[in-house]
Amino acid sequence: MLPALDELRAAASGCTACPLSERRTNVVFGKGDPGSPLVLVGEGPGADEDRTGIPFVGRAGQLLDKAIAEAGLTTETVYICNTVKCRACDWRDGKAYNRPPSDEETQACRQWLLPQLSLIAPTMVLCIGAPSARNLIRGDFKITKERGVVFPSAYARATMATLHPAYILRQSSATHDGGFSLLVDDIAKAWQLACELRAAGKTTPKLSLPEVEA
Ligand code: URA
Ligand code: SF4
Repeated sequence: MLPALDELRAAASGCTACPLSERRTNVVFGKGDPGSPLVLVGEGPGADEDRTGIPFVGRAGQLLDKAIAEAGLTTETVYICNTVKCRACDWRDGKAYNRPPSDEETQACRQWLLPQLSLIAPTMVLCIGAPSARNLIRGDFKITKERGVVFPSAYARATMATLHPAYILRQSSATHDGGFSLLVDDIAKAWQLACELRAAGKTTPKLSLPEVEA
């Protein structure tokens, strides 16, 4: 549907621009509808995503699917990708422990994320979790205070951030949903805004490559 996006995916599949390439199985590029007005940008692949090459298929992904469904959408009606395309983890005693991507890794992977967003030209970008918000909204973004707030964006008509499902899984208990209802609300709000802006003709011009910061 978007041949240039397939070319970008093919080019990214052999990327060795940062050390995350050394231990990865798959470059996890993206999934869903590249024609969608809403793009969700997560943090980075975990073990299940590294193994399958598909974003958000593990436990956090299943919770995200549930939130997307409760917001009245399906994963096929949005496009989903990540800040970094290869799994970030530390190795101790032969075991892998997931960690957030470093600033260098995040910066290196913007060579794929920014053209990816540019080609899709979404109306709204919803950042999933703090590393994504710090990459695409503001370096000192405070996720618990600023989630659900609409910001201007160089990559879409507007952008927002929400809680990461992995964070929600860690926070949730028998008496507290860990913030799950906020994730549902934020997805619904981002979708509604995307549809309103699109209906008002406020789409994002395609192929307006944002400037990559040095
Ligand atoms: N967490 C993310 O941020 N992205 C994935 O693809 C999976 C888990
Ligand atoms: Fe390349 Fe991004 Fe993978 Fe680093 S994380 S090797 S920049 S695709």
